[in-house]
Amino acid sequence: MTKAVCPGSFDPMTMGHLDIFTRAAGLFEHVTVLVTGNPDKPSGLFSVHERVELIREVVPEGITVDHWSGLLVDYASEHGIDTIVKGLRSSLDYEYELPMAQMNRRLTGIDTMFLLTDEKYGYISSSLCKQVAQFGGDITGMFPEPVARAVRAKFA
Ligand code: PNS
Repeated sequence: MTKAVCPGSFDPMTMGHLDIFTRAAGLFEHVTVLVTGNPDKPSGLFSVHERVELIREVVPEGITVDHWSGLLVDYASEHGIDTIVKGLRSSLDYEYELPMAQMNRRLTGIDTMFLLTDEKYGYISSSLCKQVAQFGGDITGMFPEPVARAVRAKFA
């Protein structure tokens, strides 16, 4: 196990994402966080550029942040990445992730490794936390602080 990619929409990244990126960085020689297109989520609160910049602002040094609009497996092959790392909060995530992991493995043989979400962040998702912010709720501790500020600004 050498190089890993943590792909996702990250609209925007949460504390749960940050925890997974940091733990992956402790397991692999190199980690890339990849903001990737999801055709099921065509429009977002943040542009791809904004998402990338917010992630760059908060991830530990040494983690690469990039974006990609093609197949995830093609990015991985082009960059010599042998493992996809994702977080699992619950069986709902598992049901969602399983076919993607199996499809990616079928396409190029790449493996997906799942890290169980820290229980502190088990209920946190970008969409739920955005909804809380949209209606004026307190999002402290759900996003890294620079991200939380950007979310508040979007709904101000
Ligand atoms: O954070 P998300 O939206 O749940 O992440 C899903 C994502 C972006 C990882 C997935 O949609 C993806 O890999 N998109 C890139 C295009 C691709 O490779 N699609 C085939 C997936 S098997």
